[in-house]
Amino acid sequence: MLKKTVRALYSKENFPQYFTVADLGCSSGPNTLSPTYEMIDAIVGLCRETGHAPPELLVFLNDLPSNDFNTGFRSLPDFYNMLKKEKGDDLGPCFIAGMPGSFLWQALS
Ligand SMILES: C[S@@+](CC[C@H](N)C(=O)[O-])C[C@H]1O[C@@H](n2cnc3c(N)ncnc32)[C@H](O)[C@@H]1O
Repeated sequence: MLKKTVRALYSKENFPQYFTVADLGCSSGPNTLSPTYEMIDAIVGLCRETGHAPPELLVFLNDLPSNDFNTGFRSLPDFYNMLKKEKGDDLGPCFIAGMPGSFLWQALS
């Protein structure tokens, strides 16, 4: 579904220079970076197919403040290394950040 969505969003005529995505409810554990990986894999695949330059990627990992974000952050160096090894120059700049807070809108009162 994620891959289909990326393809639908980014047609050949409308290829972005920047791509920002939020994973709402990323949790902490072995699955934390899975949606991010699938999204990156889809974008790199599309760039290879179409010959477009890879976009700059910004990923916000969101969850409640009680989530153990540090566990996810600690796995980032290995994740970046794996991406570099697997995707090489087909991967553009990629920044992953934590965004603690509820994904539900709340009035600040
Ligand atoms: C079932 S887990 C999904 C974990 C991960 N995305 C996965 O697919 O394995 C749901 C996650 O959503 C988070 N969550 C629940 N309500 C939330 C809210 N209002 N705002 C942000 N995160 C929330 C929980 O803390 C939990 O980590």
